[in-house]
Amino acid sequence: MTSAPVQDQLVENLLEAMTWEEKLGQLQIAFRPRLQDAADLVRGGIGAIFWPRSAAATNELQRIAREETAHGIPLLVGLDVIHGQRTTFPVPLAQAASFDPAVSETDARVTAQEAASGGVNWTFSPMIDVSRDPRWGRVVEGFGEDTYVNSVFGAAKVRGYQGDSLGDPDSILACAKHFVAYGQAEGGRDYNTVDVSGQRLRNVYLDPFRAAVDAGVATVMAAFNTVSGRPAHANHHLLTSILKDEFGFEGVVVGDADGVVNLLDHGIAEDLDDALRQSFAAGLDIEMGGNVTTSDGGTRLGPGDVPSARVDDAVRRVLRLKLALGLFADPYRSPGDEVVVPSSESRRAALTTAEKGLVLLKNHSVLPLGTARQRVLLVGPYANSTDHLGAWVQSFAEPAGSLAEAIREECPEWDVTVREGTGFFGGDLDLIGQAVADAADFDAIVVAVGEPSALTGEASSRSDLRLPGAQEQLIRAVAATGRPSAVVMFNGRPLVTSDWIDAVPALLEAWHSGLEGPRAVARALSGAVNPGGRLPMTFPRSSSQVPIYYDHENTGRPAKVSGSLAGGVVDVGLMGPGNTDDHYTSKYKDLDLGPQFPFGHGLSYTTFGYAEVDVSPTTITLAELQAGRTVKVAVTVTNTGDLTGDEVTMLFIRDLVASLAQPVRRLRAFTRNSLGAGETKTSSFELGWKDLGFSDNNGRYLVEPGAFEIHVGGGLEGTARCGLDVLA
Ligand code: GLC
Repeated sequence: MTSAPVQDQLVENLLEAMTWEEKLGQLQIAFRPRLQDAADLVRGGIGAIFWPRSAAATNELQRIAREETAHGIPLLVGLDVIHGQRTTFPVPLAQAASFDPAVSETDARVTAQEAASGGVNWTFSPMIDVSRDPRWGRVVEGFGEDTYVNSVFGAAKVRGYQGDSLGDPDSILACAKHFVAYGQAEGGRDYNTVDVSGQRLRNVYLDPFRAAVDAGVATVMAAFNTVSGRPAHANHHLLTSILKDEFGFEGVVVGDADGVVNLLDHGIAEDLDDALRQSFAAGLDIEMGGNVTTSDGGTRLGPGDVPSARVDDAVRRVLRLKLALGLFADPYRSPGDEVVVPSSESRRAALTTAEKGLVLLKNHSVLPLGTARQRVLLVGPYANSTDHLGAWVQSFAEPAGSLAEAIREECPEWDVTVREGTGFFGGDLDLIGQAVADAADFDAIVVAVGEPSALTGEASSRSDLRLPGAQEQLIRAVAATGRPSAVVMFNGRPLVTSDWIDAVPALLEAWHSGLEGPRAVARALSGAVNPGGRLPMTFPRSSSQVPIYYDHENTGRPAKVSGSLAGGVVDVGLMGPGNTDDHYTSKYKDLDLGPQFPFGHGLSYTTFGYAEVDVSPTTITLAELQAGRTVKVAVTVTNTGDLTGDEVTMLFIRDLVASLAQPVRRLRAFTRNSLGAGETKTSSFELGWKDLGFSDNNGRYLVEPGAFEIHVGGGLEGTARCGLDVLA
């Protein structure tokens, strides 16, 4: 590795030698052009290109860049490998459900190895857009509604992609996206307006990006949306003042696809030249679309359009990354080493990740079915569907099998009959009736339903969060047979289950879990694996209940369930159903209070019990916190059942009185532990200055004296509550 001073000198020498046009050529990435066009673009001086689909093709473009351009500057080669290249891991939302960031670091590591072997050196991942609106199709790409979960999983992905050194052959540049607050698009409609307060921008949406920057992320992608009136692509306050100046980000800010062009439709740029001028002035470094230079080798921006110091800063950032990747030394990959099919190791990693993301939402003594001989009826569109890879998967990814195939492999003793009964869309009640007519002949029925991955991802918002087609009718028909049955749901967002959940005895959330998803589900159905995942996003009771999320403000008139639950009034929004006759409170009159399934919900085939929580000290001063003293929290959990299982222990805080209304809960730590039957483990956490405060509307981070609550347990339900006093 070239030492830093030498690298800096190389960069300065290049800057000195480059013309204005050559500099601007480095500040753009072209889309997936045909290979010949790509070769011409590279000869014309473009600095980055989308992956041309093979090591050999990439080598040719790198050769042209090295040998047929004025300065021989190698190419950045980008691709969206969001959750896999050849080996597709579960969608990121499913990875978040594992509450085990190691699975995402593994995904990113395996993905980087596979992608880098083909010549990719830059991926546009992780997506860390906090979102509380499952109507938005892109919730599938992120890590759910919680800021801390997105921070932890995003940093894990950065580490996985970038490895110990960018110069390692298996390392690729990560890209934290989309900067920022894209997940709060009004109405959950993709690309829509975002208008957000200063305090929410920081406490909810910016924190994951600060964590990614602290983890060393090499690039950040600007978001399509406006943030309080100013599009992110041309937002100097966001791109420069906050990201580069305050967070200290020294990498490259890349635009989203045609994000600069979109400034015209946003109505803030007169024409493309104006849009480019505003974007680069705001702090954009690379435009995604190839619009900076023109086909005749000219540029849309003259020296007077953007300060040359800004252009030099952008070029410097780009060249430093290319040096750090070792591309000047050797940009080539051996085609013979290109990974084109998953290995047994990568399949095993994908299986483990899929198993850890499974969330058992309901189970009235039906699951697991066991491996012994039994007659099983498998119905639903996901019985035979192989649509398990999820959104943002490349055409060359290894295809998945079906649940029916996986069950026959993993449960060879089962006598399985498969009848789909209905497709994803449409549906014939007679066919449904026929599918379950002889239900009495079966020991158990598995209902495999969900949303096809085409309904998830970018530009795929949905107004109705129920299962599409006649799947709900199929579920109800199976439930009406009275036979032991379990619903397995394959989806890329929280879905509404309220029309049938009370009728079914068991529900397993399987998400779009990638190449090995069906196998993971088959193993969970038999009991070979015990689901231990938890919901990273709230499941609403109805599509119109969104946004609904756990870390909400209490409001001045919180609705509390009054009497309809045994044990009297409980803190609504954390717990279960029922409404209230307390008229002047925040609620819907026609809907039970709280979500269908809250954030952090997830059952197991075994049970867990918590002993007392030890908090020390229970009183601490601001000065002690600022000096780095922490509050130690220890909690002991026991597997009180007779099966090995994983328990996710979560630590929440509540700041009871503050200068800004605080969320009723904020997740500050979590850990996932595997415990054998009867086994006990103690988990320890620490709460310090960075965990107890919040940012105000002026961007100041505050820890205020007063009473806090610490809640520790297996999710929002059933936590142990302890007091903590912070003294002035
Ligand atoms: C898309 C997405 C972005 C992706 C980019 C390149 O429009 O918004 O997440 O990385 O284009 O494919």
